[in-house]
Amino acid sequence: MTRTREIVALYPGSFDPVTLGHEDIARRTLRVADRVVVAVAGTATQAKRPAFTLEERVEMLQEVFADEPRIECIAFQGLLVRFLREAKADFVVRGLRAVSDFEYEFQMAQMNREMDPEAEFIFLTPDAHLSFLSASLVREVARLGGDISPFVSPSVLRRMERRFGEEDA
Ligand code: PNS
Repeated sequence: MTRTREIVALYPGSFDPVTLGHEDIARRTLRVADRVVVAVAGTATQAKRPAFTLEERVEMLQEVFADEPRIECIAFQGLLVRFLREAKADFVVRGLRAVSDFEYEFQMAQMNREMDPEAEFIFLTPDAHLSFLSASLVREVARLGGDISPFVSPSVLRRMERRFGEEDA
């Protein structure tokens, strides 16, 4: 089959901060899409006070994916399904680490599907050695002074050290 246009994936999330697990999912998505739009949500479902502002989270993503022109990092406000159409993306991609993620992801996908029956969702699993990783655990370890260098890229590590160092000061 000859393709006449590029396939665009939308990878939404809180990315507070972006972890090696998120990076793995975004890069893996390039195996099934020509371009990935990594989109930081202004409104997250599991509302929590973020450690980093929306702008900082986008900057961190841009630093991490600076080597990959097929990955664009931006922020979005409002409903994901609305943004999916605005971005003209073909599908939403989300990472599934374990069965425990399934319920939350399934509920969100079905809710979104109710709002937009055209919305498609694709779930990718990260490399096994990253399947335990979550941004909230990374934040907690950083806050308690633990070593997070195995879980995030060097540029994110530097920002985390600055941010959580500031909290101790
Ligand atoms: O990384 P997260 O926090 O699990 O990502 C959740 C996210 C950002 C994908 C979800 O909260 C979302 O889609 N937010 C946008 C607002 C929206 O559409 N809410 C209704 C979801 S059914």
